[in-house]
Amino acid sequence: MKRSTFLKMTALTGTAFSVMPSKVVFGNPSGRLRIGIIGTGMRGQELLRLSLQRDDTDVTSICDIQQVMLDDALQLFQKAGKPKPAIYTGNQYVYKELLEKEDIDAVIIATPWEWHYPMAMDAMDAGKHVGCEVMMGTTVQEHWDIVKKSQSTGKQYMMLENVCYRRDVMAALQMVRQGIFGELVHLQGGYQHDLREVKFNDGKQPYGGGVEFGEKGFSEAQWRTQHSVDRNGDLYPTHGIGPLSKMLDIHAGNRFTSLVSMASKSRGLHEYIVKTGGETHPNAKVNFKLGDVVTTMISTANGETVLLQHDTSLPRPYSLGFRVQGTKGLWMDINKSIHVEGVSQPHRWEEAKNWLTQFDHPLWQKYGSDAQGAGHGGMDFFVVHAFLEAIKRSEPTPISVYDSAAWSVITPLSEWSVANNNNSIAFPDFTNGEWKTGKQIFANSDDY
Ligand SMILES: NC(=O)c1ccc[n+]([C@@H]2O[C@H](COP(=O)([O-])OP(=O)(O)OC[C@H]3O[C@@H](n4cnc5c(N)ncnc54)[C@H](O)[C@@H]3O)[C@@H](O)[C@H]2O)c1
Repeated sequence: MKRSTFLKMTALTGTAFSVMPSKVVFGNPSGRLRIGIIGTGMRGQELLRLSLQRDDTDVTSICDIQQVMLDDALQLFQKAGKPKPAIYTGNQYVYKELLEKEDIDAVIIATPWEWHYPMAMDAMDAGKHVGCEVMMGTTVQEHWDIVKKSQSTGKQYMMLENVCYRRDVMAALQMVRQGIFGELVHLQGGYQHDLREVKFNDGKQPYGGGVEFGEKGFSEAQWRTQHSVDRNGDLYPTHGIGPLSKMLDIHAGNRFTSLVSMASKSRGLHEYIVKTGGETHPNAKVNFKLGDVVTTMISTANGETVLLQHDTSLPRPYSLGFRVQGTKGLWMDINKSIHVEGVSQPHRWEEAKNWLTQFDHPLWQKYGSDAQGAGHGGMDFFVVHAFLEAIKRSEPTPISVYDSAAWSVITPLSEWSVANNNNSIAFPDFTNGEWKTGKQIFANSDDY
């Protein structure tokens, strides 16, 4: 069987392999997994720290274009008592030199969104598996390119979507799988996070919050805010859609079929700059294209609806706004409540806490203590663990290239809908029909 066909089949069916002993590394005689990390900024450092904790993984190389980020990353090697890696820096394309190295099985990419596509394409061409931070590409075509590249090279691509592993979300997944909510009907989620206070670089640490971005910014403010100037759509859909997609068995008998988006007016970022930096601040003249609240609806082949919201420019507490609703009841994370017909008092919410404890996922029960201290309440541990274990064992990653593409392509589809009078747009089927027979392999054991 051709490797590409094999990968495609296993990624969709997950049935071709039985679990191999966890020490075996396919094609690597050292028995250890060797990885390179491209982008050692704030996120890359957390992914690096978690990789360095493992006794089956060597981080042989790192790459970044900012010395301050490399310095912080190197301290993590020292703290973990691990040998210093090869360092690639100096220009924006130096990552290609890292990719030429033979002692790397897989790369983790944690750079700005616009770099994910070229870096992942080049990595797979160079024979490396890819674990990439959220957002696959910028255009629909780029998403197709990544899927086809993964198929033609036989290299896996997994989006490192950590919210799929959030403890309450995984308990809700268990409840869905055990039919507590009946047949799913409607789901909601999103990214609702006040990102107005960007970090700027005034040469002094720690970097304060402020209204500067671009060259004067620090970390995400260097690149992310510019997307709010240039684009209007759901710029960050994967934290919401990833977990919901696993509950809906997308690519395991279901798929997204169409999408429609609406964007509100844009006020929040401008008002914040005027309030914080004054009317005469140069950034007060910036025209932000991104609507303050972007709402997207997606239909599925099995008849469910999904509502996603992107809301990053207004004052608000953080919430991903999950709602999982079926014929027998629903869970919502915002009010930490649940209602199950026949169990809860009619028309009454009950606290979700006991349910979430009762349905705690076996993965959390097994690895909860290992995950302590990992970012975002521990879920970051699981996403790194899942990627590295799957690659180490030559098994399909639990988040496939098809999943990754379908979650991330929401951004360009939503930009199109907003720009075209909120028209509906057909959802691409990256699996070419194989979603009908795919089997769900995400979190169906206590392994990874
Ligand atoms: N899953 C999560 O919870 C989560 C949280 C934070 C960030 N992220 C994602 O992680 C990614 C990185 O975000 P961040 O917060 O670390 O941003 P960051 O700006 O702190 O880090 C990005 C790093 O990439 C480096 N870089 C830029 N261009 C490069 C190039 N051509 N070659 C090598 N290095 C380059 C930068 O110097 C910087 O150190 C983004 O995709 C972001 O959306 C995910």
